Amino acid sequence: MKKVCVMGLGYIGLPTAIIAAEYGFEVVGFDIDQHRVDRINSYDPVIQEPEIFEKLGYVLTNCQFKATATIEQADCFIIAVPTPFKEEKKADLSYVWKAAPLLAGMLKKGDVVILESTVPVGTTQQLADFLQSKTQLAVGQDLFVAHCPERVLPGKIFSELIENPRIIGGITPQSVNQAKKFYKQFVKSQLYLTNATTAEMVKLVENSSRDVEIAFANQVAAMAYSVGLNPFEVIELANKHPRVDILNPSCGVGGHCIAVDPWFLVETFPDQSKLLKSARLINDEKPFQVIAITRSWVNNLQKQNIARPKVLVLGLTYKPDIDDLRESPALLIAQKLSKYSDLELLICEPHLEHSKLQNIFDHVVSLQEGLEQADIILCLVKHSQFKAINTNNIEHKKILDFCGLLYKPNNRTINADELMFWPASSTLFSDSVILMDDVTSQKENFS
Ligand SMILES: NC(=O)c1ccc[n+]([C@@H]2O[C@H](COP(=O)([O-])OP(=O)(O)OC[C@H]3O[C@@H](n4cnc5c(N)ncnc54)[C@H](O)[C@@H]3O)[C@@H](O)[C@H]2O)c1
Repeated sequence: MKKVCVMGLGYIGLPTAIIAAEYGFEVVGFDIDQHRVDRINSYDPVIQEPEIFEKLGYVLTNCQFKATATIEQADCFIIAVPTPFKEEKKADLSYVWKAAPLLAGMLKKGDVVILESTVPVGTTQQLADFLQSKTQLAVGQDLFVAHCPERVLPGKIFSELIENPRIIGGITPQSVNQAKKFYKQFVKSQLYLTNATTAEMVKLVENSSRDVEIAFANQVAAMAYSVGLNPFEVIELANKHPRVDILNPSCGVGGHCIAVDPWFLVETFPDQSKLLKSARLINDEKPFQVIAITRSWVNNLQKQNIARPKVLVLGLTYKPDIDDLRESPALLIAQKLSKYSDLELLICEPHLEHSKLQNIFDHVVSLQEGLEQADIILCLVKHSQFKAINTNNIEHKKILDFCGLLYKPNNRTINADELMFWPASSTLFSDSVILMDDVTSQKENFS
């Protein structure tokens, strides 16, 4: 196996192609987007990821890698095209099925095809059947097809590509062994071998498990808000139990994995996935709860003669310390709030260029400007830069912290003098008690 073709040069495909090139393969990256191909070949990494600029430069300069908009022959093909869902929450596999005929046209005896895109259970088998029928190459003898789900964390992709354990699921045992040869070249961790269908399900179960855990935290938060308690304290103290480990609530679930993948299981297993579906709905509702609480505070301030309160949104990306806005609940919240003329929205997102944000929002501010001007501070994303905020300087502002950004852990084991007792008047959330009716009516307004 000398030459590798990576199909799809996005968040997954480009770093994978670069790593494969670094570890000695001759790599060609194929993408249907000519503009993206040109940028990559001009040393522009197109995505933000630590070290990518230097690494791309190195493999391009040494001719170990090139991008192309015309697919080429290779010994091993890695498919890393998007697999979003459609409006009705069904998997959109159109990118995979557009890639498949192009791939079939390139295949020769002995080639390896690895589907890395996240797919519903059974898709790799369908792909293998399609490729066999188009090429007359027998899968398992002449052609080796496997699914190897990708589990890297944006922001740490290069280290995780090497250090994470991998699941390699083959259509046949021979397919597993052939796919293993590719990953063995650069993965330092364990390679777990299985069949393709199990590998598909493993990936979907991993992300669904995370979604359910986040939904639980968000339900705890909703209950806590409704009686004026701080959910971060409730969860922190519950986690003092040796066998309890609750996640922190957030302003919702975003990105292209956790908010998407559970629907692939719901689609395939409608009768066995009620918990997954509920979790999805709970997490999807969270941005509307955030909007409802914010609205109630805008109304409160208006009653206190601040005619048009300034609301500062801290963070827009779908999780901390990245530049990715895909399916971001924080972005959704900001966009919905920007429609209200009775408040002034200030946007602070240090991971995105001001000019890009100014295409979407009227007032883009630095952290300092925002903190000075705001009446209400909405903490949506726990970016590292925000952790330096000195809460003493913003004590007089209304802070709505939905991600635990400013929460100070409760380490009081001795002195009870400073404790708040219910109904507390000065905890972060005590005066933003919300009625679920408010949330429902907010949702109706947007639907
Ligand atoms: N981004 C992540 O953190 C992550 C993590 C785990 C799994 N995944 C999965 O990996 C897959 C790829 O995700 P991504 O985030 O890299 O997507 P992306 O949108 O960043 O990139 C996909 C690229 O594929 C290209 N493309 C589309 N159709 C093509 C075709 N037929 N042939 C060649 N190129 C084509 C697009 O132009 C784009 O450049 C998805 O299935 C996703 O669910 C992503």
